[in-house]
Amino acid sequence: MSTSIKSLLPYELLEPNWRLWSFIAILAVGFWALTAFPVGQYHGYIDPFYSPTVLIVPLPGAFRLTCYAYRKDYHRHLFKHPLGCSNADRGDAATRTYTGEKNAVFQLENLHRYFMYAGIAILPFFYLDFAHSLLAYDSLRIGSLVLLANALLLTAWTLSCHAVRHVVGGNIDCYSCVAAGGVRKEIYDKQSWLNKHHEALAWVSLLTIIFADLYIRGLAAGLHLDATLLRF
Ligand code: FES
Repeated sequence: MSTSIKSLLPYELLEPNWRLWSFIAILAVGFWALTAFPVGQYHGYIDPFYSPTVLIVPLPGAFRLTCYAYRKDYHRHLFKHPLGCSNADRGDAATRTYTGEKNAVFQLENLHRYFMYAGIAILPFFYLDFAHSLLAYDSLRIGSLVLLANALLLTAWTLSCHAVRHVVGGNIDCYSCVAAGGVRKEIYDKQSWLNKHHEALAWVSLLTIIFADLYIRGLAAGLHLDATLLRF
């Protein structure tokens, strides 16, 4: 295979890499379990993986998969390419030529800025699911708080995205001169604060969406995990 064609292909997938393939196997089993044992809805609670967003789930899924926070980790720890420049233990990866963002993996990742709009579009549905649970029980229950916490963390993670930062503060040569003191500057500053915590939010929001799913599955399985906190 000529070097030029090879450089366009996802190099990582052409190499034997037990870490990457075992990770892909775990993902495949998780996805299979999710679809083979659907819970969908348990009384007033709608599983976050099965809310109406399921119709467009590949797009938010792609949004998460191409998030910079995960990219850093899977490139460094799974693909081993490109590694951080200061990484002394570069192993075989040190001999690989970095060809820029040309191969298919990078091209896909660069679509993140467009997947972001899908990520934002689905946020209201998580709040609707929360409101639905309140109305279904006429009360505030632990399950509703689980859904609310999930919605808030997903919102914080999405809004702290680097692509959102670009939409809010990009496209201006001298940002501080043009927008100093303006509403846009205020939004930019707030987003910048959120953006500093983006990596932590990426992992925590991933855990909360999995927790919310497992919580509702636990209820459906008959576990006593729910209680009324406030009756309306
Ligand atoms: Fe992580 Fe955009 S960079 S969601």
